Amino acid sequence: MPGSPVDSLRLVGHVFSVSGSQANIRLTGPVRSELPDDRRITVGKFLAMRTLRSSVVGVVTDVDTGQKPAGEAGIPLTARVDLLGELKEGKGGSVRFQRGITDYPVIGDEVDLLGSDDLRRIYDTASADTINIGQLQQDSSIGARIKIDDMLGKHFALFGSTGVGKSSGVAVILRQVLEMRPDLRIFLIDPHNEYGHSFRDRAQVLNPKNLKLPFWLFNFEETVDVFFRGRPGLEEEVEILSQVIPQAKNMFANARNGEVQHSLRKLDSSTTGYTVDTPVPYRLSDLVSLIDERMGKLENRSTTTRYGRLAARIEMVRKDPRYAFMFDNANVGGDTMVEVIGQLFRLPANGRPMTVMQLAGFPAEVVDSVVSVLGRMAFEFGLWSDGAVPLLFACEEAHRYAPGDKAIGFGPTRKAISRIAKEGRKYRVFLAVVTQRPAELDSTIISQCSTIFAMRMANERDQNIIRSAVSDAAAGLLAFVPSLGTREVFAFGEGVALPTRLRFSELAAEYIPRSESVSSGKIDTASVDATLIERVVERWRGATMGNRHRLGTTTQDHGTPTPETGSTTPLEAERSLLRAAAPSIASGKAPPVTPARQDSDLRARLLRK
Ligand SMILES: Nc1ncnc2c1ncn2[C@@H]1O[C@H](COP(=O)(O)OP(=O)(O)O)[C@@H](O)[C@H]1O
Ligand SMILES: [Mg+2]
Repeated sequence: MPGSPVDSLRLVGHVFSVSGSQANIRLTGPVRSELPDDRRITVGKFLAMRTLRSSVVGVVTDVDTGQKPAGEAGIPLTARVDLLGELKEGKGGSVRFQRGITDYPVIGDEVDLLGSDDLRRIYDTASADTINIGQLQQDSSIGARIKIDDMLGKHFALFGSTGVGKSSGVAVILRQVLEMRPDLRIFLIDPHNEYGHSFRDRAQVLNPKNLKLPFWLFNFEETVDVFFRGRPGLEEEVEILSQVIPQAKNMFANARNGEVQHSLRKLDSSTTGYTVDTPVPYRLSDLVSLIDERMGKLENRSTTTRYGRLAARIEMVRKDPRYAFMFDNANVGGDTMVEVIGQLFRLPANGRPMTVMQLAGFPAEVVDSVVSVLGRMAFEFGLWSDGAVPLLFACEEAHRYAPGDKAIGFGPTRKAISRIAKEGRKYRVFLAVVTQRPAELDSTIISQCSTIFAMRMANERDQNIIRSAVSDAAAGLLAFVPSLGTREVFAFGEGVALPTRLRFSELAAEYIPRSESVSSGKIDTASVDATLIERVVERWRGATMGNRHRLGTTTQDHGTPTPETGSTTPLEAERSLLRAAAPSIASGKAPPVTPARQDSDLRARLLRK
């Protein structure tokens, strides 16, 4: 401590050179592995350089003998230290830690190992502004505290291989956040239906059975994605849609205003105020009538086919029971946007300020669009309410929805998430991304996350991503990442006082996230009842019914792609219907749908619109 004598037992050496962000320490004692842990100087240990006015805190990144042969008696060892911040006496005499260095150590200053008291001063500062998420690795008697507003306000990310405790860590963090920030809303994207029980009565759990997300809330790109079942839209059909959707919106508005229903013919999209993207209700039946009516006026058979095919496509999706969440009763109650937003984002919260959005039961080909709509609504609600209600949008498996590779995934989903990352904080919409493959996540999103929790990661590419994202002087600490144990995590950035190696709190067994259908592999056979099998079948189908698993496969994926042989899938049914609507297709001249990759230029064109 400033002014306090250095404990001679802890004294490890003296400063012998200082540069902008580093210092070299000549160690006085030997560096031997048989020393007790709190005396051992090795990479990752925190040291304190006692200057006249402060204690400069640094972390050891290197220990060596300089240029001389190692291990010989009498040859001084050198430790290189990254300077992180200082412990300084404040006005009231209390010692506080602050980042950055104002008083540099000078050559000859004494150096000792940072003791428990100092560590406690740095980390264990219980206050309304911090949450306790675990214990320090260096001293497990000290709580690991995170500055909640810095962590939330500037977004955070959690990375680590499968099985290291990411989801449990998310539960630990979010449970604490719920506790400390009752006014905050949390919206958690849960692709594996793991979190249903992790927040108990503090969260509502949404799934395809109880979610109401009317199709008219989807913007144009999302709508096209739904009608074309996750494949790029065929250009001519997309063109037709772009004309009739605004008209259908206008028809709905006019009908509601009690005006005499326009004859279809009189409608002209140039006179309607609505664009394809305006989130107002319309009826699919109007859409189909508009298409039919246009088709009726055409002579050219090949053009007629296009209209017929589009109408068939829309009917097909509407009748698909898996899409009930967006089409059933979508027009009941008229304009229900207020209710939908109220349900999604818990306004009012009624004691449950959190939503767990379970995605495993949704048709695989529509999941990306759903996430796109939800992310967009989260952002837009913040935008148009000027951040009236702070909202944390937390996304598991974020690399699926916001991949760095533009050729995979659904552009609008990435756009929705990036937008929160880039502009969300202005409107108090915060982002948390969780992934086992940071190298596959859009790097601009990572660069917006100011607090990073890095768990064990073996892959070199993933480690490099973290290394480049960590601006702290302590990037050297990342050398530990491949060897971290379960529950262990390195926390970097705004949310922590120092780059910190910590262990997440132990979560009670009943809160540990796990897939609902499989409880940790140990199933009590007596409890294998019909509902369990139902849940298994539901997830199985949800993951495999789509033609194309755009989501990619993950290590914990449930889905194997459906073989094209065997019983008739909805996709097959759709194809035969389309063939009926478009005879030229049946002859094999033009495929009704093109595989996503081959048609990426078409998608690109669509996306430019
Ligand atoms: N904080 C924790 N408390 C209790 N158990 C944990 C904790 N973290 C991990 N575990 C154990 O490790 C298992 C895997 O953790 P999980 O969070 O599912 O990892 P990941 O999401 O990275 O795949 C859990 O099922 C649990 O048994
Ligand atoms: Mg997980």
